[in-house]
Amino acid sequence: MSTNPVSAALRSGLFTRTVGKRILYFQELSSTMDEAARQAEDGAEEGTVVVAEIQHAGRGRFGRTWVSTTGNLYLSVVFRPTPSLLAQLNVVAGVAVVRAIRKTTGLSPRIKWPNDVLVGGKKVAGILVETVAEGSEVCYSVVGIGINITLGDAQIAALNGQATGLEQAAGRTVARAGVLRQLLMDLDSLYLQSAAGKSPQPEWQALLETLGQRIQVTWRDETWVGRAEGVDSTGNLLLRLADGNLVTMTAGDVSLNGPGA
Ligand code: BTN
Repeated sequence: MSTNPVSAALRSGLFTRTVGKRILYFQELSSTMDEAARQAEDGAEEGTVVVAEIQHAGRGRFGRTWVSTTGNLYLSVVFRPTPSLLAQLNVVAGVAVVRAIRKTTGLSPRIKWPNDVLVGGKKVAGILVETVAEGSEVCYSVVGIGINITLGDAQIAALNGQATGLEQAAGRTVARAGVLRQLLMDLDSLYLQSAAGKSPQPEWQALLETLGQRIQVTWRDETWVGRAEGVDSTGNLLLRLADGNLVTMTAGDVSLNGPGA
């Protein structure tokens, strides 16, 4: 770890009350998720941020690999939420990422349920929430965020053209530190507003490109096909099946345009 000029530079001009009060910057890590969890186990205060230049074992949802070469953003934030705030973390993170990208690039990202951030239908950012609890007591949550600032042609091809970088989408250079700083500020304000009872769920819902679409949701070995009818107050997806039943999906992988519902 280093308490080097990068951390100091990130802190300067960062006006937050909780998120980013402490920023730990690493040149390389296996995953910022693991380091943030280590910090949380050691008693790190809420809002501690772990940033890495490179991850050797970056991970996404469902244990997928999150390729983490230099030039993009990889960070994890420690939270110590109440159970009701925990239910909002994914929504808070999704809106914060969208707002930060919009403010720093002028792009208009949308969200594919539950938390893929897309520009022009291509993924530019992913969010991973991991929580350690004892019974109904939340010990801590780690919110991991990866944002593609720039992806080379080979990387885009390796991701089957389904992802892109902010620079490729905006057609200009994007200041990585500026995106990070704005993200921490948006995360801070949205988290604190949520804690005060003002959830960003309506804004998140309006950003969902999934709603109204015929989709296929896969979770573990099961697949559901139906129409994404809505989301509830904590972001669970309400899926209307062909037989008319409404099911509540708490997690899953969505593909658009599933066969009829
Ligand atoms: C997804 O879309 O599947 C979620 C991707 C989350 C990636 C970020 S990068 C920073 C943090 N560290 C990790 O290993 N993963 C998250």
